[in-house]
Amino acid sequence: MESKIKICVTGGAGFIGSSFVLNAIKNHWEVLVVDKLTYASSGNHLSQIEKNPLFKFAKEDICNFENLHCIVENFKPNFIVNFAAESHVDNSIENPKAFLDTNIYGTYNILEIIRKLKNENIDICLIHVSTDEVYGSLPADGLFVEDSQYRPNSPYSASKAASDHLVRAWSKTYGIPSVVTNCCNNFGPRQHREKLIPKIIYSLLNSQKVPVYSDGKNVREWIFVDDHNAGLIKIIKNFKPLTRYNIGSGFEKTNMQVLKEIYTQLAERKLISIDFQSTYINVQDRLGHDFRYALDSTSFRTEMDWYPETSFEKGISITIDYYTGSL
Ligand SMILES: NC(=O)c1ccc[n+]([C@@H]2O[C@H](COP(=O)([O-])OP(=O)(O)OC[C@H]3O[C@@H](n4cnc5c(N)ncnc54)[C@H](O)[C@@H]3O)[C@@H](O)[C@H]2O)c1
Repeated sequence: MESKIKICVTGGAGFIGSSFVLNAIKNHWEVLVVDKLTYASSGNHLSQIEKNPLFKFAKEDICNFENLHCIVENFKPNFIVNFAAESHVDNSIENPKAFLDTNIYGTYNILEIIRKLKNENIDICLIHVSTDEVYGSLPADGLFVEDSQYRPNSPYSASKAASDHLVRAWSKTYGIPSVVTNCCNNFGPRQHREKLIPKIIYSLLNSQKVPVYSDGKNVREWIFVDDHNAGLIKIIKNFKPLTRYNIGSGFEKTNMQVLKEIYTQLAERKLISIDFQSTYINVQDRLGHDFRYALDSTSFRTEMDWYPETSFEKGISITIDYYTGSL
């Protein structure tokens, strides 16, 4: 069964998607990446597998129904893993429309294509990759479980929440086999520099002050990207339709703790020599800024026999290796 797995990976040229694709190819699965190649995918993340016979690529927008339908119908995957999204909260506050287009309308297109092909006896399972941000914000304690209410607070999280609801509705109404995953903050190689961890590394290495929202006490749960993708690979191997999983590492950090860890590792490597207090500047808080996200991932860990293998500190070290060119 495993050698016949064919996966269409939408958004597979981005940060998490490219790491997933590299892992899928290691599993000897056939992969077709469909990606619009927005600014977020800059860096040619898939160059190392360009010539691999298991790998195919189509530059396409998931909002273009006809073209996407044609691509998927020709490839006949047994899975679509959907990573394609506008993914940066700050951008969603400045320009929400692009988020509604790709994250909602694009997901709708994928669902409609799967429905159409199902009627032609081409069966495709969907894994829709979503975020913990759909649940909204937590106080200092408590965890989100899969049944927690959706309370999105940013245009980004609202658009992801809407897409999760569409996936559920298409599964319930039309019998589309789907899994939705809600994962915590990812970090690792190949992430765009606009995101917190690459931004900190880049700023410190270039003697620029790191902008820290408000007092830097907002808490995020951080997972190393390969651990997230190892979980997605397990979902493909043990696919159970109409399931939602929280995927979290348990590594909760304030933004200041993240900055401190990167600062410490760069200083230990003698790549910087400034005092910590000079590394950052407090800036006005993000509009609607969620205080804390944290997931209860018990059901995923139990069902899939999964746990995060990479500690936060080790993951930061690998990420620094990547951004300093030593990986
Ligand atoms: N980064 C995180 O911490 C995190 C955490 C949980 C869930 N997620 C989800 O995981 C997915 C991937 O996130 P990421 O951080 O890799 O994002 P990313 O921004 O790095 O990558 C997104 C990819 O989607 C592509 N894309 C965007 N619009 C498209 C369109 N209309 N058609 C086709 N391709 C398009 C981009 O070119 C890019 O390659 C997203 O759905 C995001 O919501 C991310």
